[in-house]
Amino acid sequence: MALDNLKRVDVALDQKAYPIFIGNNFLNQIGTLIQPYVRSEKIFIVSDDLVSTLYFPCVAESLEEAGFDVYDVIIPQGESSKSLQQAEKMLEHILKIGCDRQCAIVSLGGGVVGDLAGFCASVLLRGIDFIQIPTTLLAQSDSSVGGKTGVNSHIGKNLIGTFHQPKAVFIDVDTLDTLDPQQVLAGFAEVVKYGLALNADFWSWLIENGERVIALDKKACVYAVEQSCRIKAAVVSQDQFEQTGLRSLLNLGHTFAHAIEAANGMHGSILHGEAVSIGCVLAAWMSADLELCRYDIAERIAQQYEKWELPTKYEYLKAANLVSLMKKDKKSVADHLNLVLLEGIGNAVLVNDIDPDDVERVLNEKGRKKHFISSYQI
Ligand SMILES: NC(=O)c1ccc[n+]([C@@H]2O[C@H](COP(=O)([O-])OP(=O)(O)OC[C@H]3O[C@@H](n4cnc5c(N)ncnc54)[C@H](O)[C@@H]3O)[C@@H](O)[C@H]2O)c1
Ligand SMILES: [Zn+2]
Repeated sequence: MALDNLKRVDVALDQKAYPIFIGNNFLNQIGTLIQPYVRSEKIFIVSDDLVSTLYFPCVAESLEEAGFDVYDVIIPQGESSKSLQQAEKMLEHILKIGCDRQCAIVSLGGGVVGDLAGFCASVLLRGIDFIQIPTTLLAQSDSSVGGKTGVNSHIGKNLIGTFHQPKAVFIDVDTLDTLDPQQVLAGFAEVVKYGLALNADFWSWLIENGERVIALDKKACVYAVEQSCRIKAAVVSQDQFEQTGLRSLLNLGHTFAHAIEAANGMHGSILHGEAVSIGCVLAAWMSADLELCRYDIAERIAQQYEKWELPTKYEYLKAANLVSLMKKDKKSVADHLNLVLLEGIGNAVLVNDIDPDDVERVLNEKGRKKHFISSYQI
């Protein structure tokens, strides 16, 4: 396998430009493929305690065969590892082994591993090389692109972090075979979001082929991940540091989603992608309500999500409580909400000054599951 045989997406960022390679069945050749992107023989592979049992031996063997000295840095799986404490442990561990500015950190895992490893790479000796091997559909289509790294604070998620672009990203969709189907579907919701928000052709392709992606047909997965990376890369290269508002269009459905996640945190768990799925459908209904797009378009979107068996409604909380949580979003100003909505499929826009009463009405009509618990109060 040569790099030429893989799909390639370039993230155009002047001196920080980097390639994303996408394919399948190449992890056992990563040692030779990675060579042009690392400067030292020493490589630190950061992975979690689940992914490392599945893929570390194959990756390490290939790197060692190519002449690298490989050191493993294993963290517990799960969101709680994205902490300053875990970052400190990891940094001290790497410094003890010995690290110079030529060394590279390679992340092997989902978004948690990628965000934490990228953060450590960005502060270690004021910044060392970073390479991503993402292994969840969410990480392959979203979190490994764009250079955002970070850990969580007690005050909120992702509040401590840096922008640190990787030198390269290697995506082998075969790793999805071992992923929990619920995680696959949650990642698929982020894939769908790109088509719905920014690319009608991709949305049409997904209507025809989405089920093949969910069933992990490799050709379909490679195409879906490639298109997702292409759409995100185009946005990131025009708004690397989230300053022009363009990058916010990638957050279709996310203001609803973050509020749903915050509420569900108190009741059990909902995966981020599941909340994004509900949020995107709510954004479509909201867009129809404000007459930004036709009602039948929102109806078609909701039906399509149901066909994919993606969640479209939330439970547990009253519409008014969800709206209160949405007001905490960093996009909202004073008492009004700023939301990414749809003027049509593939045509997301940021709409300011939305009346919270309008949002509450739409949520009451379209958002709540029938069996919601009316006694629940935040
Ligand atoms: N940096 C960004 O731009 C960005 C964008 C979106 C999300 N994120 C972050 O990404 C994180 C979520 O990422 P995630 O959904 O990948 O979660 P994750 O990293 O927690 O992975 C989910 C679970 O799947 C397991 N797993 C990973 N790959 C596997 C595989 N191939 N086979 C079997 N199991 C596997 C993990 O061990 C974990 O238990 C969040 O912390 C979020 O904030 C970052
Ligand atoms: Zn997201």
